[in-house]
Amino acid sequence: MNQQNQSNGTPDKKLRILSGIQPSGTPTLGNYIGAMRNWKLLSNDYDCLYMIADLHSITVRQEPAKLRQQSTQLLALLLAIGLDPEQNILFFQSHVSQHTQLSWVLNCFTYMGEMSRMTQFKDKSAKHSDNINCGLFTYPVLMASDILLYQANLVPVGADQTQHLEICRDIANRFNGIYGNVFTIPEGYFPKFGAKVMSLQDPVRKMSKSDPDDCFISMLDNPDNVRRKIKRAVTDSDAAIAYDPENKPGVSNLLTIQSSLTGEAMDALVDSYAGKGYGVLKSNLTDVIIETLSPIQDKFNQYMNDKSYLETVWRSGAEHASRLAERTLSKVMKKVGFVSK
Ligand code: TRP
Repeated sequence: MNQQNQSNGTPDKKLRILSGIQPSGTPTLGNYIGAMRNWKLLSNDYDCLYMIADLHSITVRQEPAKLRQQSTQLLALLLAIGLDPEQNILFFQSHVSQHTQLSWVLNCFTYMGEMSRMTQFKDKSAKHSDNINCGLFTYPVLMASDILLYQANLVPVGADQTQHLEICRDIANRFNGIYGNVFTIPEGYFPKFGAKVMSLQDPVRKMSKSDPDDCFISMLDNPDNVRRKIKRAVTDSDAAIAYDPENKPGVSNLLTIQSSLTGEAMDALVDSYAGKGYGVLKSNLTDVIIETLSPIQDKFNQYMNDKSYLETVWRSGAEHASRLAERTLSKVMKKVGFVSK
């Protein structure tokens, strides 16, 4: 996209991106390859806000100390992968009260029927049948608020969130239809390099941090763990190294991870393994993963040892985000008819 206005030489305003990630556990290599790494690539071309979606996490019961720890770690990880807090707004959702305020208003413009059709709600309520709370039900409304508050143009999301993005657009259109153009209608952003990483033990399913430990590689796994998990990763009964996700999902997943971390084209990568066995692939892949994660982990440790720096980052993020969010929120409050303060 050409963002320079050639006629008068002034740059057009960059499009705005907002995305969020929940602090429910340490991100996996799949989260890194599929989402986080792209956040960094986008930060040069777009005006980006990246949010740690801690409010969303309490739709499932959390242990307070763990939630706090995981949230702080996630911020340190975002910095460690190279997201520059001067260039991007990095913030905790719970620090910007406008999210919950807008969420209440938008709840009143969202129908029970729409929410009950959300597949994630159905899945999560089946999984947590002892805690089907109202927050879980209206989770997509909070997510819509996250996006609409910042007038985001583009929202990078995984396939599991496209239904939520669709409902966000519906809510925004409905609101705009009643009150005029209050919200920008966001679109999904599907990155070119967003390879989907599958479970190491069940490679037809997405790699997930809620599965048993040997199914995924955490971004904080040490080299021994990486080695052990890749060694135990399921392959296929025949020994040929070929990229064939349908018939050879295990090997194809390992190849996908290697090619997306090194940037090698899949064909060339597969050729380089001609006549070699799974052992070589696994050992090379282990090295590649360790080489990727080690520098990130070193930086992560530095940030975790500098709490006051982290505090500076999250305070400044909250301040910037609140300023933007308040513009939209006050417009909404006025439109719906509340008396101005
Ligand atoms: N619901 C998203 C997930 O679990 C996280 C999220 C919350 C989000 N708010 C968002 C993603 C806004 C994109 C935009 O993955």
